[in-house]
Amino acid sequence: MSDFLSLWIGVCVLGSLFVCHVLIEWVLHRPDERHEAHKVQYSHQSWGDVRSYDHPVPRSWLYLLYACTLFALIYFSLYPALGTFPGVLRWTSQQQYKDEVGEYNLVYTERFNRYLARSITEIASDPVARTTGQHLFMSYCSNCHQGAGEDRTHYPKLTDRDWLWGGHPEQIEATILHGRTGIMPAWGSVLGEKGVEETASYVMTLAGYKPANPEEVAAGKEHFAAYCAFCHSAGGRGDPRQGAPRLTDKTWMHISSKDALSEAGLEAGVRAAIADGFVNLMPPHWNTLDRAQIHVLAGYVYSLSN
Ligand code: HEC
Ligand code: HEC
Repeated sequence: MSDFLSLWIGVCVLGSLFVCHVLIEWVLHRPDERHEAHKVQYSHQSWGDVRSYDHPVPRSWLYLLYACTLFALIYFSLYPALGTFPGVLRWTSQQQYKDEVGEYNLVYTERFNRYLARSITEIASDPVARTTGQHLFMSYCSNCHQGAGEDRTHYPKLTDRDWLWGGHPEQIEATILHGRTGIMPAWGSVLGEKGVEETASYVMTLAGYKPANPEEVAAGKEHFAAYCAFCHSAGGRGDPRQGAPRLTDKTWMHISSKDALSEAGLEAGVRAAIADGFVNLMPPHWNTLDRAQIHVLAGYVYSLSN
């Protein structure tokens, strides 16, 4: 803040208080015959027969104003209210923030560091640590994962044992720490419409549906071996190293649970998945959370399915 601006603010604040009081003193001591007797006076205003009284303002109001002025003067001298004048207490909002964060860190760093010394499975079986993890999850994860167990298309359910990137404690922790990018290439232009249909028919048999057209399924199986198995593994078992989902269960991430209810809905979803592919991002958290918080979160996520 420039010196001029600082001076200007000071003059405006104190000046307006001063002017206010000069005005009041002037009104109180003005030679006015109406204040001489305590008789009822009328103002100059009248509306036909209706006229308004003209009493002086109650004294209590005046004292209240004096008290407010006194309060303001004390406040202005203690706190930074007059330009760059820091106030006798030298209070600043930045310092207050720093102190509070410092206090928080002192208490919580110690508490969280104790968790860091424990294994993820131990954390998962400790109710207090789990609750802490749940709170962290609600703050940092639920905007995408919601309550972890809810069905949300394009987001993995974290309460089942069907994992994209693996469900071992260390794998879960690595997922949260470094994030993951699930990439499924689009196969529409490679396979053509017919090829996509055949492959989808084969994927449907992996998911447990009876083959409607065995020839189509046989052709699809060949496509699968050529184009899909190096990620989804032979027979669609999935591969956690690439985040490729298992296709043999009835759990779908990119197909809504409503579509997956009917065979036709599911097949349409599978075809779209094969033709268009996906890029799906789980953001890294090493830069927003500290190691101990991530450790506790891994314990909480592990506890959801174990
Ligand atoms: C911006 C949205 C977003 C946020 C925030 C987010 N996630 Fe995720 N998460 C995803 C997506 C999308 C995936 C699936 C990634 C994929 O398709 O490979 C995922 C995957 C995961 C997985 C792997 C699931 C599996 O089957 O292997 C875990 C574990 C996970 N998230 C935990 C968390 C935790 C814990 C947090 C909070 C610290 C969090 N996520 C925050 C979007 C998010
Ligand atoms: C480069 C590796 C890769 C190849 C090749 C690949 N996929 Fe995928 N596929 C993935 C990944 C990774 C996902 C999960 C995407 C995500 O994380 O969002 C996926 C998702 C899917 C899904 C959706 C699963 C769900 O739960 O919603 C289907 C269906 C699928 N793939 C079928 C196929 C078929 C059929 C082929 C061959 C034509 C194929 N994929 C080839 C990696 C691959």
